[in-house]
Amino acid sequence: MRLELEDVRIAYGRAEVVFGVSLDVAHHSFTCLMGRNGVGKTTLLNGLMGVLPLKAGAIRLDGRDITRLSTPQRARAGIGYVPQGHQVFPYLTARENLAVVRDRAGRGDQSAVDDALDVFPALRKLLGRPAGLLSGGQAQQLAIARALVTRPQLLVLDEPTEGIQPSIILEIEDAISALHSSGMTILLVEQYVEFALRLAQRYAVMDGGLIVHSGDTASIDVAGFSDLLAV
Ligand SMILES: Nc1ncnc2c1ncn2[C@@H]1O[C@H](COP(=O)(O)OP(=O)(O)OP(=O)(O)O)[C@@H](O)[C@H]1O
Ligand SMILES: [Mg+2]
Repeated sequence: MRLELEDVRIAYGRAEVVFGVSLDVAHHSFTCLMGRNGVGKTTLLNGLMGVLPLKAGAIRLDGRDITRLSTPQRARAGIGYVPQGHQVFPYLTARENLAVVRDRAGRGDQSAVDDALDVFPALRKLLGRPAGLLSGGQAQQLAIARALVTRPQLLVLDEPTEGIQPSIILEIEDAISALHSSGMTILLVEQYVEFALRLAQRYAVMDGGLIVHSGDTASIDVAGFSDLLAV
């Protein structure tokens, strides 16, 4: 699934924080978007998902303009979103967290839940536990699994390694890599540069609400703009 952002501008009230971002995420590609704290990465993703309105610009999925669709409509169009901060419903069990999405998607498709659990088998032992009692890493795995229940063609992840212990980071890396290999298009926002560059083929770097560098990860010159990255 190809994603195109064209001259996207986003503001909080009068304070503009995304100043005209264009980004082309090719079908089946793996793109990482990097940049320091506060440069506008999450704001851009929230604009992509319709959580925040665009002040200007356009968003297209496989050439179809989705700029005016609601957030649930964008999810149904094929985008899975894993927001920053491993957000789960703390008072629902892990099983219920997955069931909410299964039932809201309207299909009641338990096979989608089973397939999502196949990506993180360790979650099966934790299904009866309130999500608020999971570790940060377990909650992040649950948050990713929950996004997979809608069977997205494009998966968007916002800093999935943030505050997560190294062993779980490796499990998440393997899972995301396998999802990409299975044909999913991936857009990963990440400040953990080594993690992002191990996975992605394309990169973009944001600074001050703009994309200031982009290219193939194979030829990235990290040292050349380390001041723009959290390295
Ligand atoms: N709800 C809000 N209201 C007003 N300003 C906001 C709001 N959320 C974020 N901002 C501001 O917008 C700018 C971009 O924030 P954003 O969260 O998009 O950055 P980020 O690149 O995702 O940072 P981080 O890596 O820390 O998650 C920052 O200056 C931030 O203070
Ligand atoms: Mg952020």
